[in-house]
Amino acid sequence: MIRALITGITGQDGSYLADFLLGKPNYEVHGLLRSRSVPNRERIAHLGPAEADGRLRFHHADLNDASALIRLIDLIRPDEVYNLAAQSHVRVSFDVPIYTAETTGMGALRLLEAIRRVSGEQRVKFYQASSAEMFGSAPPPQTLRTPFHPRSPYGCAKLYAHWQTVNYREAYGLFACSGILFNHESPRRGEQFVSRKITRAAARIKVGLERTLAMGNLDARRDWGFAGDYVRAMWMMLQQDEPDDYLLATGQAHSVRQLLEMAFGMLDLDYRDHVTFDPTLTRPAEVDVLIGDATKARDRLGWRPEVDFPGLVRMMVENDLDIARGELAGPIPGRPTSHIPFRPEPLGS
Ligand code: NAP
Ligand code: GDD
Repeated sequence: MIRALITGITGQDGSYLADFLLGKPNYEVHGLLRSRSVPNRERIAHLGPAEADGRLRFHHADLNDASALIRLIDLIRPDEVYNLAAQSHVRVSFDVPIYTAETTGMGALRLLEAIRRVSGEQRVKFYQASSAEMFGSAPPPQTLRTPFHPRSPYGCAKLYAHWQTVNYREAYGLFACSGILFNHESPRRGEQFVSRKITRAAARIKVGLERTLAMGNLDARRDWGFAGDYVRAMWMMLQQDEPDDYLLATGQAHSVRQLLEMAFGMLDLDYRDHVTFDPTLTRPAEVDVLIGDATKARDRLGWRPEVDFPGLVRMMVENDLDIARGELAGPIPGRPTSHIPFRPEPLGS
């Protein structure tokens, strides 16, 4: 059996990656859980049967606790480590920059160092979840040769983790890969990210649970793909003969406004009747356009995204419509009955 450790298994990508690896008969998956007052296993609840079979196991640790990471690597002795855990919200990173640097940046280093110290001669393969946010204001299309220019504490923290990954490969010969991923979404996307915020609100407005949607900058453009396609490529990177860095993207960008138009339009709604502007949802420094060039992943890994933008939006709208209709019919067990919208404090307050 191949033993894989996933940090961030309760998140969007971690849950899809766990699905993907457990779909292979020769994988045993170990998930890192951090301590929370309310367990957060919604996205992995369906994996109960794998847990019962012993092919999926959970361990408490935290990227901010180096000793816990050393203990975990020593206990599991993983063959593959996928570092997906992070404080991953860009706007939030302006409110908690030091925490973001600790978790998203230093957390990767703590994990790399735990692997180097504990695993010795064992060939551990390491995947780092790097981000298009590292390109920041670099003009599109962004390629693997584009100079980085991050525009947020999150982007800076991810860039630090990216270079540490490269450095552990070059300095210690670790099989370490950095996947620079452009935005990828799904029905499991967190509700504070723009795609899910929009599809969820459109569905709730459609069934009468809400009337308005407060938004920030509608002109930003992103290269949006489907998370299920992207986790497949994470695994592919670790199956190559040599470790390397890759960029994953669809190569097509849409604006937030186009996303609104499409999601609301699929429900015969006009977003202009519902969307209000809230300046607190803008960022002190915005990333205007991200469009990635995934030629290397296509040529070397044979990777291609299978879900296009309209297919992605439809999948998310349909899922959120089901949830909204269910909520109308009665409270869903384990799900809060009222949603507290994300409305950050104005910066500097
Ligand atoms: P996500 O849904 O926000 O999931 C983040 C995960 O990290 C959650 O499981 C969270 O646990 C865990 N986590 C947070 N702080 C932690 C800590 N201190 N110790 C241990 N675990 C911690 O993110 P995602 O969208 O799946 O993205 C996965 C990774 O790819 C992230 O590193 C993200 O920055 C990166 N990335 C994402 C995208 C994208 O478009 N989705 C693009 C490029 C890169 P809880 O459930 O307990 O909060
Ligand atoms: N979240 C959010 N909420 N974003 C909004 C809103 C709003 O109300 N209104 C406009 N936007 C704009 C943001 O300003 C940004 O330009 C764009 O929508 C996308 O925002 P997010 O969905 O929060 O994603 P992101 O691009 O900042 O970051 C995501 O992608 C990165 C990769 O490019 C995250 O998943 C990061 O973790 C990831 O690394």
